[in-house]
Amino acid sequence: MSTPPTDDTHADSPLVPPPGCPAHALGADGRRRLYGPEADADPMALYEQLRKEHGSVAPVLLHGDVPAWLVLGHRENEEVARTPSRFSRDSRRWLELQQGRVPLDSPLLPIVAWQPMCSFVDGAEHQRLRAAVTQSMERFDGRGIRRYVNRFANQLVDTFCSDGHADLVTQFAGHLPMLVMTQVLGMSDDYGPRLVEAAQDMMKGSETAIASNDYLVKTLRELVARKRAEPGNDFASWLIGNSAALTDDEALEHLRLVLIAGYSTTANLIVNTLRMVLTDRRFRASLAGLQMTIPDALEQSLWDAPPFTTVYGRWATGDTELGGQHIRGGDMLVLCLAGGNVDPAVRPDLSVPMYGNRSHLAFSRGPHECPGQDLGRAIADTGIDALLTRLPDLTLAVDEDELSWTPTLLSRNLAALPVTFTPRKPAHAESLAQPAPVPAQAATRAEMPPAAPSIPPPPQHAPRLRTPWWRAPARWLRGR
Ligand code: HEM
Repeated sequence: MSTPPTDDTHADSPLVPPPGCPAHALGADGRRRLYGPEADADPMALYEQLRKEHGSVAPVLLHGDVPAWLVLGHRENEEVARTPSRFSRDSRRWLELQQGRVPLDSPLLPIVAWQPMCSFVDGAEHQRLRAAVTQSMERFDGRGIRRYVNRFANQLVDTFCSDGHADLVTQFAGHLPMLVMTQVLGMSDDYGPRLVEAAQDMMKGSETAIASNDYLVKTLRELVARKRAEPGNDFASWLIGNSAALTDDEALEHLRLVLIAGYSTTANLIVNTLRMVLTDRRFRASLAGLQMTIPDALEQSLWDAPPFTTVYGRWATGDTELGGQHIRGGDMLVLCLAGGNVDPAVRPDLSVPMYGNRSHLAFSRGPHECPGQDLGRAIADTGIDALLTRLPDLTLAVDEDELSWTPTLLSRNLAALPVTFTPRKPAHAESLAQPAPVPAQAATRAEMPPAAPSIPPPPQHAPRLRTPWWRAPARWLRGR
């Protein structure tokens, strides 16, 4: 079993290159490492280096110097994701794991260790589990969801709008998807800072990830028990009651999957899109001229900064060829969604906008393609619209170069997005002076939930006349 290098090793041995030396990025066999300071500092540069050296499929080393293949080509990513007969989702096939070469403390294990859920199985079992998820999702009313995304977004803006400054990561994007997801799942009473922290912590693969996972599992186990005893009008109840007859463990794992997959990615999409809008001249010009809409901006962001940069993984079902490389049965493949999205074969000129083109890899492809993409888009689009409508003169409070990123195994997250704006009164105060119209369709209790505990109480109705989302950028730019 190989041991990952530590900083102590570097300090003790004169043979080990000093920090910052490019030799850190290479393993003993000359393969590049997909982890470590160099990879964390600029993963996109690493992907391009690997593409230059190896083409569309590159040999790499994962944590603990475990070998794997990084799929960089757009076409090759599609091929892998769409061909489960050659590239399985079942991590029990992983030769390195079977032969004990993956360190027991590897941060990969929480992500790749097999669990009884749809993202680890193929074929008929995958269809059974995935159908339980998708059928439960189809029961949501899309309009109802947008209504309470708008409501939660406005509540969040209320908490900082009179300050004239905010961090959109910790005060907006880090909360909005969790507020919505806990509502959708039927666990709004569980929403709170501890749940947000636990979900973030698990994605970071930090030392406290196990404790965070335990907290999440305990919360979800209680939810399953509650909903079995007293079903409601929510995703958890529909999932449990689905004809797939999930066991308690299967229900719990799928609730965890939906909560984590849906929360972190959507938070990332909101932040990445806001960053682009606040920093990129092209975006501002296109939004100002109404050549671009908020959904267009989201899609461009899904091309340039997909919330999951990589998906670990797929496992070869037998010896095969891909991108000119010989892949052995049991080898692991990492889908590099961020690399595939900038493959020169599909995007020879990265400055050309991709408006209206949804063929990016951000939601992957094939039988495992993200089933929550419409919900993710709806939360991001409605939330950003609400924010820009309330605070039309948002400006980045620091130089773009000062923004920093926190790398995780699967993504790259902005640490903070500080902004300034003209201070304004909270909307619930304004709504007293200017009553909002009653929603066209009476909302059910599931659609219009009670306020989350840590957020000020919302107005009785929507705080403002809802204008079309495509007007928001124009108003925002006029306000500058
Ligand atoms: C912008 C937001 C989102 C992005 C970028 C995203 C991206 C992805 C990606 C890349 C995968 C992996 C597919 C593969 O293995 O090839 C995935 C799977 C999945 N996502 Fe999402 N996701 C988002 C939001 C959501 C939401 C809101 C939900 C739930 C409400 C959700 C639920 C799932 C589930 C259940 C899977 C596993 C599907 C399967 O294995 O069959 N995702 N997502």
